[in-house]
Formats: sequence, C-alpha cells, structure tokens
Amino acid sequence: MKCRRCKAPAVIEVRRHNAAYCKGCFLHVFRGQVERAIRQWRMLDTDDRVLVAVSGGKDSLALWDVLLDLGYRADGLYLGLGIGEYSGRSAEVTRGFARDRDARLVEVDLSAEYGFDIPTAGRRGSRSTCAVCGLSKRYVFNKAALDGGYDVVVTGHNLDDEAATLLGNTLRWQTESIARQSPVLPSRDGLVKKVKPLHRLSELETAAYAFLRGIDYVVEECPLVAGNTQLRYKDAMNAIESTSPGTKAQFFLGYLDRGMPLFTTGREVELVACERCGQSTTGRFCAFCRAQAQILGRQLATGDGPNDVAPSDDRQVADELSDEVLPAEIYATRGADAGP
Ligand code: AMP
Ligand code: FES
Ligand code: ZN
Repeated sequence: MKCRRCKAPAVIEVRRHNAAYCKGCFLHVFRGQVERAIRQWRMLDTDDRVLVAVSGGKDSLALWDVLLDLGYRADGLYLGLGIGEYSGRSAEVTRGFARDRDARLVEVDLSAEYGFDIPTAGRRGSRSTCAVCGLSKRYVFNKAALDGGYDVVVTGHNLDDEAATLLGNTLRWQTESIARQSPVLPSRDGLVKKVKPLHRLSELETAAYAFLRGIDYVVEECPLVAGNTQLRYKDAMNAIESTSPGTKAQFFLGYLDRGMPLFTTGREVELVACERCGQSTTGRFCAFCRAQAQILGRQLATGDGPNDVAPSDDRQVADELSDEVLPAEIYATRGADAGP
C-alpha cells in the first residue's frame, strides 16, 4: 500500500477515509484535523492560557503533544483519582511526558484535597463509581483552571467517545444532554470554557499518533470500568463501523452539522454560587459538595442529615455532570454499574 499524499510505503490505513499514509504524512494529517477543529469551532486563541486535562492515556497525551507543537501555551493538569496501581502509573507517564517536553504540569490529588478517592466513593456513595469520577473530574478541572487563571480547559475526548455518548443520549432521548454535546462549551458565570479538539479523530487514529510519536502512555483500562455503559455503546458503534466504515463519523459529525441546531432551545439554567465552595451550581449546594458530604458522612448545613445530601435531585446532578458521563449512569444502581 502506498501513502495517499506522497506515494511512499504506507504504515497506517484509515479505512473510513479509504486511505493509507506513511508516518510523516499521517502525523501531518492528524495535526491538520486538530487544527481544523480548533479553527472551525474557535476553540483557542494563540495567546490563551490553555489547561490540558491529561489522564496518561493516549488521547490526552497525543493532544498535549499536538498543542505544544502548534505553539499553544498549554500546561497539563493531572488529577490523582487514587485508583491503585492504575493511577500510580498514569501519574508516572504524565510526569515523564511533561519532563521530556519541558512542559508545566499542575497536579491535584483528590484524596489529599477533598478527603476521598474514587474506589471509596464507589463503595460509600449512592452514585455509581463512574458518575462520581466524572463529577469529580469536571469539578476539579474547572476549579484548577479558575485558580490558575487559565482561559480554557481542553480534554482528549475523541470521535469514539463522542459518538458513544451521543448514541446513549439518543437511545434515551435525553434532549437536553443531546443539545449540550458540543465540542465547545463557552465560559459563563464561573464556568471556564471547555473544548474537545480531538472530536474529529478516532481512537485508532489517536493510538497510531501516540505510537508513531513514541509517546509512552497507559494502555490498560481503568480497573473500575466494568459495567460502564459508555463502553457498551462503543462496542455497538464499532460493530456497525466494522461493516460500514465511516458510520461513526457520519453519526457524530453529521449531528454537529445538522442535528444540533434542532435540539438547541436557547434556554439556559440559571447558575448561582454553591453555598459551601462557591463554584457555579444550579441549586443551593453543588453536586460535587453534596457527593463529597455523602461519601464522608458529613452535613452540609445545620439541619441536614447525611442522608439529605443523597441525590434527592437527580436533575441537578444531570445538569452539572458534563457529557463525559452518560446521564443514564447517574440513575444506575450500584449493583448494575459495578462499583467495587
Ligand atoms: P475519560 O473520562 O477517562 O474518557 O477521559 C476523558 C478526558 O478527560 C481525557 O481525554 C482527559 O482529557 C481527561 N481526564 C481523564 N482522566 C483524567 C485525570 N485523571 N486527570 C486529568 N485529566 C483526565
Ligand atoms: Fe474508571 Fe469509571 S471510574 S472507568
Ligand atoms: Zn460546592
């Protein structure tokens, strides 16, 4: 097989484009897709202070690599979730990358900062492990960006992630979540702008990029993933993709092009400051503070018993969870959603 751009021997085939590339041309095309997403959705300005949420996986490390190469002022943010060996190795590769690239890495440890880790949250709280994990990430990303004076938070969600989330939301006709599934969430009332520059690139492509660039990344899945609904939707999308290459991209990119405007209502929930931590929320206390209080068995306000901070208002949690976690997971029972 020959490279589509330069006719040299190809090293990677991209079936949905019906094309193959040599190493240099693949890296060029990959960067071009990231630049295109940034331009099309006005994700980043050249003088923005950018905070890249880096998990130690292929997607976020590949993205940080591209953004540094493109000349953005991009610092990394690693959140220690306390998931045993898995978190230890994730921190190690992220630090290694930052060292090699002479880049700045901000680190937050959930347990040291907030008194609980994700395995404990799964055991003690009433929410599924993945739901608390998603909620914690969203909360800490925003807070770290505000505290550090960053203009924008960047995450490594790829096309597979976005297509699976859209499929899950569509199967349940979660119209408000569907409307919010944009690659750019603008800043408003204490919420920092959030962008997803990899949304045009598949998981296979980000893995190939990381491999060809020699990036050391954590290959293993999170050990708490069993029962994660999003994985089942990914499998379903992959089954369709294997016989009809391009379906995933048509589904998600077609949604952005033609579907999203149909779901946008222009209605926005009003945001106020959480009475405990001051971060933006739709209720008296933010979903993170309520989850934390429940996990630690603390009261949020006089007169509240620990049980009063259970997810009495699932709607608020749904509003405050980003699209990283399917809203369906909020309602999952712990047994079905396999918290340890
Ligand atoms: P996930 O929710 O694990 O699919 O990750 C989605 C995105 O969230 C990743 O591409 C990263 O940008 C970010 N992310 C996930 N886990 C972490 C972490 N522990 N620290 C920093 N960023 C993370
Ligand atoms: Fe790790 Fe859900 S907590 S995948
Ligand atoms: Zn709060």
